[in-house]
Amino acid sequence: MSVGTGTKTVRTRIGEGTRHLLIPRHSPILPLTSDLHAKMSSKSRWADEDPETEAIIAQQKREKEQKRRAKAEKQRQLEEAKAQQARQDANNTQAPNGDSGPPTKRRRLSNDATSSDAAVAKIDAEEKAQPSLLRFPMGEWGPCRHVDNFERLNHIEEGSYGWVSRAKDISTGEVVALKKLKLENSPDGFPVTGLREIQTLMEARHQNVVYLREVVMGNKMDDVYLVMDFHEHDLKALLDEMREPFLPSEIKTVLLQVVGGLEFLHSQWIMHRDLKTSNLLMNNRGELKIADFGMARYYGDPPPKLTQLVVTLWYRSPELLLGADKYGTEIDMWSIGCIFGELLTKEPLLQGKNEVDQVSKIFALTGPPNSQTWPGFRSLPNAKSLRLPSSSAPTSAGNPPLLPRSQFPYLTNAGLGLLSELLALNPASRPTARQCLEHPYFREDPRPKPREMFPTFPSKAGMEKRRRHHTPEAPKRGQEAPELDFAGVFGGAPGGDAGEAGAGFTLRLG
Ligand SMILES: Nc1ncnc2c1ncn2[C@@H]1O[C@H](COP(=O)(O)OP(=O)(O)OP(=O)(O)O)[C@@H](O)[C@H]1O
Ligand SMILES: [Mg+2]
Repeated sequence: MSVGTGTKTVRTRIGEGTRHLLIPRHSPILPLTSDLHAKMSSKSRWADEDPETEAIIAQQKREKEQKRRAKAEKQRQLEEAKAQQARQDANNTQAPNGDSGPPTKRRRLSNDATSSDAAVAKIDAEEKAQPSLLRFPMGEWGPCRHVDNFERLNHIEEGSYGWVSRAKDISTGEVVALKKLKLENSPDGFPVTGLREIQTLMEARHQNVVYLREVVMGNKMDDVYLVMDFHEHDLKALLDEMREPFLPSEIKTVLLQVVGGLEFLHSQWIMHRDLKTSNLLMNNRGELKIADFGMARYYGDPPPKLTQLVVTLWYRSPELLLGADKYGTEIDMWSIGCIFGELLTKEPLLQGKNEVDQVSKIFALTGPPNSQTWPGFRSLPNAKSLRLPSSSAPTSAGNPPLLPRSQFPYLTNAGLGLLSELLALNPASRPTARQCLEHPYFREDPRPKPREMFPTFPSKAGMEKRRRHHTPEAPKRGQEAPELDFAGVFGGAPGGDAGEAGAGFTLRLG
């Protein structure tokens, strides 16, 4: 029955009773076909007794139900994907490297993408800004492999702290260097010095530091071996074999790499304390690596009290020789100066026979110290016995004074300037590794030679024991520095070489 124009009264049965609903004619709930429309005009479309209409309605209901289900399924899939993403984000926060270790910081999960992203970025920035000293490597410790996994190929060298061999990793066929640590001076088990060598090397991951692959053990507790990348040469053996010294461009390439590696070590609070040409390895690709961390140690600011008996004599700084027990990275910079001098002439620069002679040779090159060039040197323990010549004015103007040009005739002014700064008696006048890298010497012509253009040399280590010209050994670890009498440095007394001439003046000042 029609009521009014715009609506139809529909009778429908709900439960037992009958209800009357008002439905708009073109209600979107029931889109009407024209056929059905025609039927409805004569008779109620919802009449119970019309099976055709009921079939259509049932069909529409099924379609509607299908649509509802599809929509619900789509919604469920969306939620599932969201949950998955959230779980992934949480995992990433906990183990950025894919480790399943504990989270370093909890990442807040929030719907507010912008604010949570900003918070995460802030945490990341804070973590990056933390000093590296506070970070400890995790997950790198585990049971060591046995040395039997390596086949020894040939012996390379016996040093003060180890026997080094060339060896092959049996499982991979890779050639490595195997250094057996000499631990016999450690009655109480594993010596702290051996641990220091391992710990500092493990922390010192840099392209100019020898790569420690792993530590392996023999049958006994004190059978400890360092497995390192193998390098064909050490700089000392190379200089001994070469007919001519390196070219200026090659010297720059070598120096930049040593100082680059050292700058990294110092930035990690590691002092090497035994820099010398035999501890600098080179491969046939012109790459240089700092090796031998037997003397290396962490230091602090202010520097702790440290042993004075460090650094092989010829590369040892004047403050160490004069008995300083508080010293810093400047001792490594002095050694760099000695290495620079050795690269220029192929010969070690300051070859003292003992500590007193070493000091004598140093002063012969640099001129004796005075209160302007090295304020406070008098307070060092061994300086008390030092008798200086009455006129101890610097041999050249400037602070630090320039080294005598006659000793380094082929060096440019910038080069001589850098060498003089590195070999400044006063540690405070020496450049830091960073300052050294920025020195104009490296920017003037000839420029450093590209590493790939570096000459290659036949390897001694690859075939036979390296032939070594005599050089003094690194100091024995754990020993006390000897009592020294420097009275003779300028007077031809006990330790010094009487009558030594150098740097344009005579040391015997009588
Ligand atoms: N990774 C390496 N690849 C090739 N040769 C190496 C390697 N490591 C060391 N050597 C060689 O073995 C020598 C001795 O090694 P190292 O300096 O580590 O031992 P050391 O006993 O501490 O020496 P030192 O006499 O300076 O105290 C080096 O001078 C070098 O010739
Ligand atoms: Mg060595």
